[in-house]
Amino acid sequence: MGRGDVAAVANRVARALARDANREPLICSRFSRAALRDALESARDVAWVADGAQDLCGHLVGTVLEDRGGAKRAWVGPDGVSFDDPQTLDQLYRVARVRWNAMGAHEHLAWVFRDDLAPWVSLGFSRVHVRAARAIDASAPSWPRSYCVRPGTLGDLEVALALDALVEDGTSAPSTHEMNDEGCRREEWRELLSEPDVRHFVVERAGDPVAQIVSYPLGSLRGSFARTVHFSALAVEPSHRRRGVARALVETATASAHRDGFRYAEVAWRSANDGAQALWTTLGFRATYVRLQRHGDSS
Ligand SMILES: CC(C)(COP(=O)(O)OP(=O)(O)OC[C@H]1O[C@@H](n2cnc3c(N)ncnc32)[C@H](O)[C@@H]1OP(=O)(O)O)[C@@H](O)C(=O)NCCC(=O)NCCS
Repeated sequence: MGRGDVAAVANRVARALARDANREPLICSRFSRAALRDALESARDVAWVADGAQDLCGHLVGTVLEDRGGAKRAWVGPDGVSFDDPQTLDQLYRVARVRWNAMGAHEHLAWVFRDDLAPWVSLGFSRVHVRAARAIDASAPSWPRSYCVRPGTLGDLEVALALDALVEDGTSAPSTHEMNDEGCRREEWRELLSEPDVRHFVVERAGDPVAQIVSYPLGSLRGSFARTVHFSALAVEPSHRRRGVARALVETATASAHRDGFRYAEVAWRSANDGAQALWTTLGFRATYVRLQRHGDSS
């Protein structure tokens, strides 16, 4: 991508986000063009454009990030791609793939609008996670008999780790999909529970912890509204499932977030996690973007 392409790419991103928001009102199309231009400027070595007859007909930007374990991945956000036809995506990805692989990033990930997956699937990408959102209100939770909820504290670290082990799908609070090492997980949870903005809710029955959820401010994320809270690490002990515990827990965390000034909530679950999908959909969350993944060295 040349310096002269930056403004045209920013226009394409604005159009793409507006189209997504038009189809799904839980997607926010607002973004800072100046910030995007700065980001594109600094990512020009991993950004490509496709020329059409008169104007650009596509762009692809993939940031290569390294996790604490040293694994590198190329990430494409909702603003990182646009294409007028699937051939353009194919053309862009062929070039990007070679570069990402050369940089040591053999895993390629893209957040794609939920209804636009087909061109990516044709390129060999598969669904990994679903991102979903909901507007929130202050409705009071209704708890099943004999369950109660309390705020978690740093003293709940062992409880948090034990319940987190039930979420083996990469949507728990720390980046467990990147690091499975027990010591790292413990350290990440310790850091998480020490954060002032993080809320940890623990459900008990007869004094035993049986479920948890964590919430924290989502921060600035393309496609998300300001004042969005993110839920993660939701888990209920198997013998306490299907009694309405998760529903009451999410409602409790939602009402608390509403009191803290949040107006939207987001969550992500693994595409293969049918229970999570059923729960979050029942609770009114709608899919916005799907995270697709491909191993770049497969042909
Ligand atoms: C997903 C999970 C949190 C649900 O907890 P739960 O307490 O059993 O959920 P609830 O009883 O509150 O369910 C409320 C509604 O959600 C839906 N639902 C929840 N789990 C479901 C499942 N496994 N299959 C189908 N529907 C489900 C149902 O509509 C249910 O209402 P119903 O029981 O009256 O039919 C629990 O199964 C769990 O801990 N799974 C492992 C960890 C995990 O996957 N966490 C999600 C990470 S995103």
